[in-house]
Amino acid sequence: MERSFNFITLATLLLIHSLIQHSLARTTTNTSTDQSSLLALKSHITSDPHNILTNNWTTQTSKCTWTRVTCGSRHLRAIALDISDMNLKGNIPPEIGNLTFLVSLNMSSNFFQGNLPKELSRLRRLRIMDFTWNNFTERSQTLEEIGNLPKLKDLRLQNNKLSGPIPATIFNISSLEFISLRNNNLSGSLPVNMCSNNLMKLRTLILSRNMLYGEIPPSLFRCSQLQILGLANNNFSGLVPREIGNITAVQQLLLGFNTLSGVIPQGTSNIYELEALALASNSLTGSVPVGIFNMSKLRAISMDRNLLSGNLPTSFNLPNLEELYLGTNSLKGQILNSVTNCSKLTTLELAFNKFSGSIPNSLNNLSLLKILNLNGNNFTSEPSLSFLTSLTECRYLEELLISNNPLDGILPPTIGNFSSSLRYIIADNCRIKGSIPGEIGNLSSLEILSLINNNLIGIFPVAIQGLQKLQRLFLGTNQLTGSFPSSICTFQNLGSLDLTSNQISGPIPECLSNVTYLRELFLSSNQLDSNIPESLWNNHEDLLRLDLSSNFLSGSLSPNIGNLRKAVGIDLSGNVFSGTIPSTIGSLQALTRITLAHNQFHGSIPESMSNMLSLESLDLSQNNLSGVIPKSLDTLVYLTYFNVSYNDLSGEIPSDGPFMNFSDQSFVANDDLCGDPRFHVPPCRISSVHNSRNKIVIFVPVAVAIVIIATVVIIVLVKYQKKNQTPNLLDLLSPLRQRRISYYELQQATDGYSESNLLGMGGYGAVYKGLLRDGTVLAVKVFNLQVEGAVKSFDAECEVLRNLRHRNLTKVICSCCSHDGFKALVLEYMPKGSLERWLYSYNYFLDFLQRLNIMIDVASALEYLHHGYSTPVIHCDLKPSNVLLDEDMVAHVSDFGMAKLLAGEDSVTHTRTLATWGYMAPEYGMQGTVSPRCDVYSYGIMLMEVFVRTKPNDERFNAFCTAELPRERTDMKDVVSTLKKIKLELLACTGEHTNKST
Ligand SMILES: *[C@@H]1O[C@H](CO)[C@@H](O)[C@H](O)[C@H]1NC(C)=O
Repeated sequence: MERSFNFITLATLLLIHSLIQHSLARTTTNTSTDQSSLLALKSHITSDPHNILTNNWTTQTSKCTWTRVTCGSRHLRAIALDISDMNLKGNIPPEIGNLTFLVSLNMSSNFFQGNLPKELSRLRRLRIMDFTWNNFTERSQTLEEIGNLPKLKDLRLQNNKLSGPIPATIFNISSLEFISLRNNNLSGSLPVNMCSNNLMKLRTLILSRNMLYGEIPPSLFRCSQLQILGLANNNFSGLVPREIGNITAVQQLLLGFNTLSGVIPQGTSNIYELEALALASNSLTGSVPVGIFNMSKLRAISMDRNLLSGNLPTSFNLPNLEELYLGTNSLKGQILNSVTNCSKLTTLELAFNKFSGSIPNSLNNLSLLKILNLNGNNFTSEPSLSFLTSLTECRYLEELLISNNPLDGILPPTIGNFSSSLRYIIADNCRIKGSIPGEIGNLSSLEILSLINNNLIGIFPVAIQGLQKLQRLFLGTNQLTGSFPSSICTFQNLGSLDLTSNQISGPIPECLSNVTYLRELFLSSNQLDSNIPESLWNNHEDLLRLDLSSNFLSGSLSPNIGNLRKAVGIDLSGNVFSGTIPSTIGSLQALTRITLAHNQFHGSIPESMSNMLSLESLDLSQNNLSGVIPKSLDTLVYLTYFNVSYNDLSGEIPSDGPFMNFSDQSFVANDDLCGDPRFHVPPCRISSVHNSRNKIVIFVPVAVAIVIIATVVIIVLVKYQKKNQTPNLLDLLSPLRQRRISYYELQQATDGYSESNLLGMGGYGAVYKGLLRDGTVLAVKVFNLQVEGAVKSFDAECEVLRNLRHRNLTKVICSCCSHDGFKALVLEYMPKGSLERWLYSYNYFLDFLQRLNIMIDVASALEYLHHGYSTPVIHCDLKPSNVLLDEDMVAHVSDFGMAKLLAGEDSVTHTRTLATWGYMAPEYGMQGTVSPRCDVYSYGIMLMEVFVRTKPNDERFNAFCTAELPRERTDMKDVVSTLKKIKLELLACTGEHTNKST
């Protein structure tokens, strides 16, 4: 019902729009005050990129014919001004205060800056003021003046840079129904006395994402009409007021991410209309009021990351509950039996509590369950782990996370019955015993299988070969036996393999070279023997981390180790390797840690190691190395750990650079080292000086000259270094190295493309978050060239993004292609993530207007792609996960990997690459026909999805609203203008509609 309501709202708005359109008669007049005030505004606009106002607002015509100005039909004064979303820059002059008949003023989504003029307070008839998505930096004086506007219903200032406290006068406007000051820098506390004679009509109050502090005033809960209260992401402290139960109309109560303390008031359970209760990330204590579990309208509860304790009730009456987040508290009791009658649950997150009891077999009642996270509790099971069998009936289950529970059972063969929606099984540290059943190979969609630190025994079943989508296989710390399972060699998508601490024996198979996507290989503490296959070095140039330590591997180290140019960590310690260390090791310029300790290497330490610029830790201890420690190692500026103890080294220990910080422990038990006394070695003997007078006569002037030259050189070098030291060490390097370094910089920026920086995986590769040394945050999209079509996709994206510039498209900072085939795009980082995340996660909240604005942004981008560029560009893969939001919630269309350039405006092309099912236009899906109308189709699907919050492949989603035939579909120009009109009307007939439709 709630879902269809949004449609009714939209339809109503469209109707209202056309009624208003017909009833407003527009005539010309020359009421000169308004005209000159508007011209003053125009003269303060410094940039009007499409010259709309520049060409249209002219003195030759009357203001009532001007675009974006609406006049009253009798008095011919300006009653509405809407210059929203025009990419305007400039500021607002005081003359705006002369537009005294204005009822609606909308300047949202531009780049206006500076102060809001206090003359705004002269607009005594104003009902709607919308300055959202600008750069206003006004301190609170003007807000105080705005508080004098007697008729204001709708005040929208979100996503600006307003600072200072919110003046109490704002809360004195008795006509106010909607206030949003979300995402500013407002500080200070809320007035103690709210809602006495004022704000009695207030339905929406959103102050989230500011720096407000102090207590939430109990008087706020006298605003009996409140439907949405958003105070999340501030620093509110103190108690949640007991009076909370007075606002019985509230539907969304969003108080998460503050520092609220104390107990959750019992009164909360009187809010019978409540649909979303968000209290996550506070310091709430005590138990959860039992009444909350009887609030039948609740669709989402998030109370995770608090200090809540106690038991939850044994029976729940939450028939509409879709998402329940209680993780990271100290809750206990046997929750799982009670939760099983919440039949609409899609997310159940109970991680890191003290919940206990046997995991019941009745979890199969949760037939819509997608995410089950029970990590870190005291859940038990009977020995056959039969709850797993019952969970196989949850056909939508994607993530099964049960790590750190004392389950103490055997994996049942029924584990093979999970549906193909299952992507993750994570059950580390669960005392699971027995062998891995072969049926696990049925899980053809599984991406992560993690069973670390259990008691698994036996050999790998051959059937494990069925896990063809596997990206991570973590089976470390078990008792698996037998030889290295060659079925692993068939996993084309495997990026990370951990078999650490098992009893796997025999050689590392040659066929491992087929797993070309491998980034991390952890095989330490097994019984592997013989040589490392040569193919490991030759076919895994993308390997980032390699740990083969504590095995029985032997032979010499291949010079091809130098191929692992991207590697950041290598551990070969505790084996029986012999021979010399190949000098090619110096090519490992991304490497930060390497240990070859406890082997039988002999020969000298290669001089080339001084090229390993990123090295932070180098351990060569317990070998048979001889010769000197190369002096050039003192150039390794990041080196903080160095160990060459227990070798046969001789000569002088370098004492400059990083060596200044090493202790004698780095050098103990060598033959004949000498140098600084702090290393506890004898001083080095200076090569003998002959006492012959003659020789001195000759040598003194030469020596003096050398000293002078050296001093000059040193002075110059030191000066040069000082000049360059602060901004970037890399500037000192030669251009050749710099080019290589920029690749290395990306590597550093993403911590070697580590999982913790992974923003997302796509069809053609992965996107990582990167932090450059200078603090710049960026997104790095790495193309997996093994995937068919990836090169094409990279080229398409480069081609499109090189030529296009639009506020609603993602910007490319640079592209990086190295000679060895590595291809990456460095993109602007979008801190608010994807629209998909905002739609489907309850910790995020988009109000109706935000959704509308996002869809206007997307439409504007498409309009530009289809009509604004000499060759029409078709995106071809429009969907919420490809729409990214920046700090200011401006939407940017991204991922042009499937984009097509057309020859002419109305032409079509054919393709065989396929877009995402559900968003794909029928003619594209069936015949591969690409035209702008395909994007229009996807857009239509997305428009519905955004307002209904249902995925297009959901069976509840009938495409009743999109035209099957391409020519019946509208074009993006029409879409943009229609949506903007809806927005205007939405704001004009504020209140009723906006509040309900979230
Ligand atoms: C200004 O724009 C309006 C609305 O689009 C249009 O009717 C009018 O003719 C334009 N005036 C000029 C001088 O271009």
